[in-house]
Amino acid sequence: MSRRWVRELARQAARRYEAAGLMARYFARGKLAGDPMFRALLSPAMLPDRARVLDLGCGAGLLAAWLTAAVDRHARGDWPLEAPPPRPTSYTGVELMSRDVALARLAIAGWPEARIEQWDLRDAALPPSDVILLLDVLHYLEPASQEALLTRVARALSPAGQLVLRVGDAGAGGRFRYTMAVDRLVCRLRGLALPALHGRSLPDWLVMLDQLGFAVETHAMSEGTPFANVLLVARHA
Ligand SMILES: C[S@@+](CC[C@H](N)C(=O)[O-])C[C@H]1O[C@@H](n2cnc3c(N)ncnc32)[C@H](O)[C@@H]1O
Repeated sequence: MSRRWVRELARQAARRYEAAGLMARYFARGKLAGDPMFRALLSPAMLPDRARVLDLGCGAGLLAAWLTAAVDRHARGDWPLEAPPPRPTSYTGVELMSRDVALARLAIAGWPEARIEQWDLRDAALPPSDVILLLDVLHYLEPASQEALLTRVARALSPAGQLVLRVGDAGAGGRFRYTMAVDRLVCRLRGLALPALHGRSLPDWLVMLDQLGFAVETHAMSEGTPFANVLLVARHA
């Protein structure tokens, strides 16, 4: 996948935010082109094809916009990978902030099997799902709420399903502090109240997931960035 092709896919996906103004569109384009996680999520190992996908804390729905653009590219024969892009049978995004809910609804426009629901994850009903995503979200919840949510996630996940989590590694020292500082800066730029953030070290995340009955693969997910991010793919043990 060449950098040029990735930038073109990001530009196409970001067009979905045209009605929301230049800032939303350029933020989406920069994030989709620069964050290695979105490229990784085009692989069936990370996001299996034909799955019921539940994207918790979906934000502006960047993943939905990205997948929609990828499926379009594939249909037009402009696809550089061996496997086709993930084509979810359904996509449900859950998000707390009204502004992001509105953006995420732009991202799924014209996709009949997709919906966005406005809920606090601490109270949200979780539909049965084959893939559950928690991408850069859990550190917004207090430790007890993280565990309570992951317990409900384990129940909602189908037997062969997978939970895909991206977390910061609080054991990574300065790189983790930098990751959290950028998170706060983005909240400030978006005019949001600064939340308390609750990180854990990678071994602590792994212990908690093990206690909840998950077997976990870890993938470094900060390539080309100064962040301390790790992608965890967790399946029922
Ligand atoms: C850093 S953004 C990540 C967005 C998206 N997952 C992505 O990777 O593009 C974190 C998102 O989690 C949402 N969030 C935080 N706490 C939440 C809660 N309690 N319930 C629902 N959403 C929440 C925030 O509003 C924000 O949109």
